[in-house]
Amino acid sequence: MRGDDAQDSAEDIADALAGTALSEITPELAAAYLDMVDEFEAAGEGYGWNDVELARRDFAAFVDDLRNESLGIGLPPEIVPQTTYVLLDREGRALGEIRFRPRLTLPFEQHNGHIGYNVRPRQRGKGHATRMLALVLGKASALGLERVMLPVRDENLASVRVIAKNGGVIERSGVELDGGEVVSLYWITL
Ligand SMILES: CC(C)(COP(=O)(O)OP(=O)(O)OC[C@H]1O[C@@H](n2cnc3c(N)ncnc32)[C@H](O)[C@@H]1OP(=O)(O)O)[C@@H](O)C(=O)NCCC(=O)NCCS
Repeated sequence: MRGDDAQDSAEDIADALAGTALSEITPELAAAYLDMVDEFEAAGEGYGWNDVELARRDFAAFVDDLRNESLGIGLPPEIVPQTTYVLLDREGRALGEIRFRPRLTLPFEQHNGHIGYNVRPRQRGKGHATRMLALVLGKASALGLERVMLPVRDENLASVRVIAKNGGVIERSGVELDGGEVVSLYWITL
């Protein structure tokens, strides 16, 4: 799967990757973030990973919510803290989003795992998800985690590949979640 710049050379792609960095979401990123969300919606994928309705209405409130979610403030007892990052390129474009949950609790852990990510449709196939995951694995390791778990819907071969490129191995397939969805559980040792 390649994005809109399919004619880019391997060198261009390597250069673009090297110029990317993760950032937590701040008020200054409103235009870049909503531009990414627009691309998902225009592609018919929607954006179910964060409250983008709030982001459109009141980006400062969205940022506050994300900060509280990261600090574990005001969450129901069964919902674990989650930190959301975007991958920015040199021009300040938001290429993708990755969400990290350092602590998992049942019964939700198999639904979400430690980490979830998405790359904007026109930027796929350039290694951005692989890089985002590698950067968050560094954060997980720095926090003292020894391994992380990611559930994957079986048909999501691109995500399976991203996990494999970061050293992940399948632990169990055919795990049926509440609601009937079936996933495979992958673990990455840090
Ligand atoms: C999954 C997703 C994040 C991958 O992002 P990406 O930036 O394209 O990923 P990368 O470029 O780092 O790596 C993708 C790998 O999958 C491979 N791939 C892509 N489509 C594939 C397919 N249908 N079958 C097999 N491999 C596939 C690519 O060739 C690449 O592997 P390679 O480097 O060995 O060539 C992106 O497709 C996405 O956002 N999907 C929607 C959201 C989602 O499914 N998120 C994951 C679950 S939380």
